[in-house]
Amino acid sequence: MTSSEIRQSFLDFFRGKDHRIVQSAPVVPHDDPTLLFTNAGMNQFKDVFLGVGTRDYNRAADTQKCIRVSGKHNDLEEVGIDTYHHTFFEMLGNWSFGDYYKSEAITWAWELLTEVWKLPKERLYATVYKDDDEAFDLWKELTDIDPSHIQRFGEKDNFWEMGETGPCGPCSEIHIDLTEDLSGAALVNKGVPEVIEIWNLVFIQYNRDESGTLTDLPAKHVDTGMGFERICAVLQGKTSNYDSDVFTPVIERIAELSGKKYEGEANQVAMRVIADHVRMLTFSIADGAMPGPEGRGYVLRRILRRGARFGRNLGLKEPFMWKIVATVTKLMAEVFPEIEERREIIEKVVRAEEESFGETLDRGLEIFEEILAAMKKEDRSEMSGAEAFKLYDTFGFPLDLTSLLARERGKTIDVPGFEKHLQEQKERSRSATKNKMRAAGKDGGLDIQMQSDAQTEFIGYDSLETESEIAAVGEMVKTDDGLILPVVLERTPFYLEAGGQISDTGSFVADSTTYDVTGLTGNRDQVVHLLLGDESLEQVRDEQMVIAKVDARRRWDIMRNHTVTHLLHQALREVLGTHVQQAGSYVGPDRLRFDFSHFQKVSPEDLADIESRVNEKILEAISVQHHRNVPFDEAKEMGALMFFGDKYGDTVNVIQIADYSLEFCGGTHVKNTSQIGLFKIVSEGSIASGTRRIEAVTGRGVYNFIGDLEQKIEREQEGVSELQDKIKSLEKEMKKLAIEQSDTVIEDFVANAESIGVSKIVVAKVDAENMDELKGMGDKLREKLSSGIGLLAAAIDEKVALVCVVSDDLVSGKSIKAGALVGQIAKMLGGGGGGRPHLATAGAKDVEKLDEALKTAGELFKEQLT
Ligand code: ALA
Repeated sequence: MTSSEIRQSFLDFFRGKDHRIVQSAPVVPHDDPTLLFTNAGMNQFKDVFLGVGTRDYNRAADTQKCIRVSGKHNDLEEVGIDTYHHTFFEMLGNWSFGDYYKSEAITWAWELLTEVWKLPKERLYATVYKDDDEAFDLWKELTDIDPSHIQRFGEKDNFWEMGETGPCGPCSEIHIDLTEDLSGAALVNKGVPEVIEIWNLVFIQYNRDESGTLTDLPAKHVDTGMGFERICAVLQGKTSNYDSDVFTPVIERIAELSGKKYEGEANQVAMRVIADHVRMLTFSIADGAMPGPEGRGYVLRRILRRGARFGRNLGLKEPFMWKIVATVTKLMAEVFPEIEERREIIEKVVRAEEESFGETLDRGLEIFEEILAAMKKEDRSEMSGAEAFKLYDTFGFPLDLTSLLARERGKTIDVPGFEKHLQEQKERSRSATKNKMRAAGKDGGLDIQMQSDAQTEFIGYDSLETESEIAAVGEMVKTDDGLILPVVLERTPFYLEAGGQISDTGSFVADSTTYDVTGLTGNRDQVVHLLLGDESLEQVRDEQMVIAKVDARRRWDIMRNHTVTHLLHQALREVLGTHVQQAGSYVGPDRLRFDFSHFQKVSPEDLADIESRVNEKILEAISVQHHRNVPFDEAKEMGALMFFGDKYGDTVNVIQIADYSLEFCGGTHVKNTSQIGLFKIVSEGSIASGTRRIEAVTGRGVYNFIGDLEQKIEREQEGVSELQDKIKSLEKEMKKLAIEQSDTVIEDFVANAESIGVSKIVVAKVDAENMDELKGMGDKLREKLSSGIGLLAAAIDEKVALVCVVSDDLVSGKSIKAGALVGQIAKMLGGGGGGRPHLATAGAKDVEKLDEALKTAGELFKEQLT
């Protein structure tokens, strides 16, 4: 049977037993804060088991995508080293919700394994919980299992729990003996590949709460889970999951990329790890997870980095895992189409992450070797916390990667020492953040002690001003800015920083004195107002009541920026895709920041599209609905978006902007989108691999933005006029130079002129821009000619311009007249002109005849002089 047939036959079998075949839930649970990843088929039915949810069927079966790399179920250490644990795997399961119980679960499991799939009965073992006599007897009575193959185990092996809390109960597992000589009886639950668990039947009957106490559930349920990859290997007669058709194409692809064979322990381990990890990355990213610095994202990052390092063992230096994604999607898209639909995104994310780690991996591996050499010299077998931390901090080596490298060389790591360094780093960055918060209206790490458990009621959703009794006053604290007095009120309109929205500032008025509220601290239940001033603040102690006033203008600016983040979030999802998830935000009065998961730069076109969509929603003037204290489940059912990683209480607030946006949110908002005014994105960039940041402004911020732009344009305009002036003066300069140059030219003409007696004749072509210039040149020529006749011609605007000059002695002595001469010459050129006897100008149109005319002119002048 192929793996597809095996999966299908499981589902068909249970369909035949009246089970509803349901879809796998996403491998990234978006609605269970107790889980980073879906770790069992039953996760999606947790609410049914707990009695808080229902389904319209009471039997179900499916194949569920699971990841076990964190929390209670974590198989990472074994993955690849052995042949039957995975970070990502499929779990085939069948369920009864208060319907059938142990007998049917056992009977059907036996029937499927031995009658449908015909597994040899002598190879099967059943385990039961130590005091579950009922299950023990049912195996004996209802099946033909060898009674000596029923074994009892304790809590560790036969009491199944989903996590630290949640539904749980005793279980009965089926193991298969793969030894050649059927010698597996003593190997059940010994963690050896010869005898492995293939199916777990859990009899859910308790809930474990946070204190660890078990309570009976309202009904009893069945929850089973079979390792799909294991059953495929068994049914295909393989001893390794990686030899089944679930994995062989992936292993082949790795062999192809690395040019290595799937042979030899080292290569095999590396290829198994990579095959497993690429599957994990493919499925988790397809369901919306992204590699990142913490939480779920860091799990992805750890997995990817482990994979990259095993690639190095195969000689793969360039990013390569992304090239395996397509093999996985091709293999599994039939059952899980989402991975093919999102393949390109997955490839891009994996590749980008590989690229960014690749830069430090080699250097880190070198440092690792240096550390090992130092350890050898000092005869140590344990790597210090500081050394492991250096690899983590500088080279991005997750602790489990370093542990693995160390283990391969027979070394250990001082894990508590590493944790200590990590903790210290966190403290450092926390106090750095605190200092930054100071300016934003927070306590900034002040040591504020309130010896009171007075509670504050927050009324700031509806009012920005209220009269309130003073509930408690703390001790005055000295700061660089002045004295700070902490005050708790019974009711306050002041919003305390949460969910990215920064704290309000404002004032208290008591007995006609105004006090500045510079920031807030405390928590939601007890808001501590920080009054800033001098010794006179002590007077507040004598007051009973104050009027608390939020700086309304600032708060409105904040609200505009907050509501717009919801519109922006939705617009991003529309334009870029629903993989976009909020990764953080800052909402202040002057601007907003919105961080979100996305793997590449947002193009200018997309950015413009996003901005325009948000502005459309503002112009549509949609009323913003604030649903307060909605039960969590109800809010979820409404389909409200939540911020991953956030903890929500039993009741939550939901902000709804008609049918455009619905989000869990505790912040304060405008009442109508039109109050936002206008929205303008001012920047977009990357803050971490896979995380982008948009900064934007609204309302007054846009007004200021335009003001700044205007000033900028004005400044540029000024620059332009300055340039124009400069050009003008340069032009003048050039003209001057040209004139100077023409002076020399004219001097040259005179020096080289033909002489008739004492008089000279100059006939020449010159460059001139206009008649004035030409006339000026004529004047010059006349000046330099103590006695003589001159003619200068220039082509101006495709016409001929002429100037003729005659020296005074010739005008008076020989009656030679420039006007007459120039007229004569111009005539030859199809033009005319005239003027005074000593200087005259003319214009003509026949440029092409100029040379000839000048020749004639020379002769004419000679005649005049002789
Ligand atoms: N929920 C059970 C398991 O994961 C079936 O083993």
